[in-house]
Amino acid sequence: MEKGDLKLIKKYQKELTLIEGVAALLDWDQQTYMPKSGILFRAEQSAFLSEIAHDKIVSEELFNSLKRLKRKKIFGDDKLMLDRFYKRVERARKIPRSLVSEIARATSLGHDAWQRARDKNNFEVFRPYLERIVELKRKEAKLISLPGSLYNSLLDDFEEGMTAEKLKPIFEKLKIELIEIIRKIENSKEYGKRKNIFLGNKFSKEFQERMVRDVAKRMGLDEEKSRIDFSEHPFTTKIGINDVRITFNIRESPLFSFESAVHESGHALYELGLPEKHAYDVLGGTPSLGIHESQSRFWENMIGKSKDFWSFYFKKFKEEANLNNFEEFFREVNSVSKGMIRIESDEVHYCLHVILRFELELALMEGKIKVRDLPKLWNERMKEYFGKTPKTDVEGVLQDVHWSGGYFGYFPTYALGTIYASQIFASLKKKYPKIEEDIRKGNFRKIKLWLNENVHSFGSKMLAEEVIKKACGEGLNVEIYINYLNDKYSKIYGF
Ligand code: CO
Repeated sequence: MEKGDLKLIKKYQKELTLIEGVAALLDWDQQTYMPKSGILFRAEQSAFLSEIAHDKIVSEELFNSLKRLKRKKIFGDDKLMLDRFYKRVERARKIPRSLVSEIARATSLGHDAWQRARDKNNFEVFRPYLERIVELKRKEAKLISLPGSLYNSLLDDFEEGMTAEKLKPIFEKLKIELIEIIRKIENSKEYGKRKNIFLGNKFSKEFQERMVRDVAKRMGLDEEKSRIDFSEHPFTTKIGINDVRITFNIRESPLFSFESAVHESGHALYELGLPEKHAYDVLGGTPSLGIHESQSRFWENMIGKSKDFWSFYFKKFKEEANLNNFEEFFREVNSVSKGMIRIESDEVHYCLHVILRFELELALMEGKIKVRDLPKLWNERMKEYFGKTPKTDVEGVLQDVHWSGGYFGYFPTYALGTIYASQIFASLKKKYPKIEEDIRKGNFRKIKLWLNENVHSFGSKMLAEEVIKKACGEGLNVEIYINYLNDKYSKIYGF
């Protein structure tokens, strides 16, 4: 019997993995090559696939089989796999099909309203839709009902094991320290000396694409196992074993395509480094979005914005345009300024953007504030943390897509990933004290292999906290990130 049940739950996981890959391929196609008019049929295809997946995960046959296995003695990876899959199934079963489709409808309308509100630069257009989404997500959270804050039930889906209670003091400390670092930077002599060094320089599309491909390859992204294409917003997706896709986009700053390619390649290397042995079961995925993001932000910031890295790449950028001052260029890469937009933010302001969103969405989910108060609260907090208020809703409360999709609990993973990244960087340097010599030569082989072994290879056999403990000798430690920023920016800005 036992053998039969184990076989059955593996079959279910394999089928779910296959559906996921097909859905990812449809989504990738939609964002890259699909003709515009294909959208309605594509939306139906995607909805159909998620219905099949939902029916599978809540099937009685599967649940009975899982319950029988729970009573048996099972060891090793099978036990880990069983526990994780059981948790996922149990969670899905707590939400009735009617609520799943209500949320799907509300977020699809919400996304549309969010775009219209952005076009009109008016939060009021989006407000009633967001109110509905918040109401449904609170209903969902109540059904899942994890201990502590209502927010925990949503956060757990993105960062398993993390809670609002654990996050609050960490973010509070980080917030105070970031405001202090920004104050020191703004009082420094170097601040304000910034020149627009790209003015009058043209970096052709061909050059930018060549650099995107060059850096992805140097980082170790295998061309036989990946594709790089063009899309509106850069993203990474996994289609299946040995098949990941990243995309890039060209914006005003010539660094945008390059830096986002470094970021997405970090995600892609992680996907390719996950244990192939578990490609068809839940252990083959990531334990949390924070861990996934740690991989992209590690490459983007700790490596891709370092002096050693640019002492290699500056040569290539210099050839393309009229640039000769390395120090000026390096300062531009790491320039700090009070931007209102999260995705365009520098390293120092970035987590402040995230903390502001966390505080607001936590209060929303706990019923302490109302949707209609969001624009006012957003602007008040921007004033408090940044000393500046966004001029419009598009620059403020309407800038991110997440809430329109019902993704409450997602934002903290950006900050967690950033903190994890700094811890990983510190451990890597401990292991290879002379790693900068490699980086200066554009050789990232050791780094990739170290990440493969110490982060990627575990898949989700452990939770995020344990992966970090194993790789870095301790769990989440925000001090390491604060030290990293102080150390780096005091050198650049001379404070
Ligand atoms: Co990312």
